[in-house]
Amino acid sequence: MSITEQARPAATSKPRHARMLIDGAWVDSASGETLTVENPGRRTTVATIPRGAKADVDRAVNAAQKAFPAWSKIPPRQRGRLLLRIADAMEARIEEMAHIIAEETGNAIRTQARPEATLTADIFRYFGGLAGELKGETIPLGEHVLSYTRREPLGVVGAIIPWNAPVLLGALKIAPALCAGNTLVLKTAEDAPLGVLLMTEICQEFLPPGVLNVLTGTGEECGGPLAQNPIIQKLSFTGSTEVGKIIMRAAAERIVPVSLELGGKSPSIVYPDADEDWVVDGVISGMRFTRQSQSCTAGSRLFLHQDIFDSFLDKLTTKVQALKLGDPLDETSDIGSIINEKQFRKVCNYVDEGLKRKDARLVFGGLPPKDGPLSQGYFAVPTVFADTSNDWRLAREEIFGPVLVAIPWKDEDEAIRMANDSHYGLAAYVWTHEIGSALRAAHAIESGWVQVNQGLGQQPGHSYGGYKQSGIGREFSLEGMLDSFTQRKNVTVNMNVPRRGT
Ligand code: NAI
Ligand code: MG
Repeated sequence: MSITEQARPAATSKPRHARMLIDGAWVDSASGETLTVENPGRRTTVATIPRGAKADVDRAVNAAQKAFPAWSKIPPRQRGRLLLRIADAMEARIEEMAHIIAEETGNAIRTQARPEATLTADIFRYFGGLAGELKGETIPLGEHVLSYTRREPLGVVGAIIPWNAPVLLGALKIAPALCAGNTLVLKTAEDAPLGVLLMTEICQEFLPPGVLNVLTGTGEECGGPLAQNPIIQKLSFTGSTEVGKIIMRAAAERIVPVSLELGGKSPSIVYPDADEDWVVDGVISGMRFTRQSQSCTAGSRLFLHQDIFDSFLDKLTTKVQALKLGDPLDETSDIGSIINEKQFRKVCNYVDEGLKRKDARLVFGGLPPKDGPLSQGYFAVPTVFADTSNDWRLAREEIFGPVLVAIPWKDEDEAIRMANDSHYGLAAYVWTHEIGSALRAAHAIESGWVQVNQGLGQQPGHSYGGYKQSGIGREFSLEGMLDSFTQRKNVTVNMNVPRRGT
């Protein structure tokens, strides 16, 4: 790992105060209390934000309820045009957005923050263009019956997002929910609200008051009351499986639909013919090492065929060690810092556990440096353990940090059985030139998304979501918008009515 004496690019010098958006106005919390947002690469305070709680949630939900009738009656393509204008305005502010994302999340600006800002603008463009597709269907019940369906919005949507790709994940709630005619109350993650607030500012230039309301606050104080608010007609959550269950329970109380995008422990299966450099690059990309592996789709269980086990790990070691870990705002950094102290400690505990197991072999990495420039931030070093077993905690739990476990396999059935032996089922990666093996594995793996010979991120149009405890529902796509943010009404008309006067 190359560790640099950083020539530090300018960060925000004085902490600023950011506000929440309720009913078209930028406000503080009713209590006046605040939280701080930290730059995790430097452990400095970037901003203070309102500590939103139930009173703020209630105001925001009421504003969204008031805005709903007019917003839902705007012809869909007109709503779509507003989203297209938001996309243009976002594109003009990508650099500003990238800087904020890097500063508050610790994600490296070149490899993560700028691509996230760019993709976010594209998400608004994609959904803006889909407004005309909010179509219903007609049902052939006979010559004298007209039976048709309408795609109607649900009402006020409550959405809660995490910090790992906050602006993108926020856009994936805002764009489809508003396009479909709903109004929205979105709660940002307490660790990374600033990029979402900038996106909100851009959106608000084009939207009537109350259509989009964005709150800052903690999970329990602000997210809890949002999930329980009786006016909310739909809950959409991205985050941990544990909190996903809390959201689903709250939804069960009132029978409101939920979409859940939760965690993963995704397998990456390398066949014996794939001991090649491009596969190593793909495995590194799939593991999301350049986002400190703080990604729900991280391919964090590496199943290597036994014949290529050592040779593949040698190549992986060389390539990962060439990545530069450093200040998130430095253009030359490939990898940034972990989001906060709690997550940093959690990742270190997993590494420590691996180091203490006599039967695990450390291939590279280990605990973070105790001194030098990297000790000033929450920098975790990419770490690989070999000869691990699929039933260890390291191989079962979502670490959400750069800790990869390598597990050997002999025959395909065994590899697939181990890949499926998880309560998660979000993503998977298969690496081989043999098309038959690749497709057999792709079909047998229990997960919502299988990539063959690539380790890329999601693209607009791709129906993305989890099997098993990785979630419910799909996002990123037309079907995702239709299924998650509309409800179907059937209207059936009997045309066989006797004529008056005959
Ligand atoms: P989290 O699931 O607690 O936080 C996600 C969002 O939920 C945040 O906005 C948070 O304020 C909110 N929240 C938390 N508790 C809530 C509650 N009781 N009611 C309503 N909203 C609540 O995730 P956290 O604590 O930041 O990270 C812990 C672990 O979760 C990570 O180590 C990782 O394993 C997983 N995670 C997975 C993500 C994914 O995209 N799959 C994203 C973030 C975390
Ligand atoms: Mg932070």
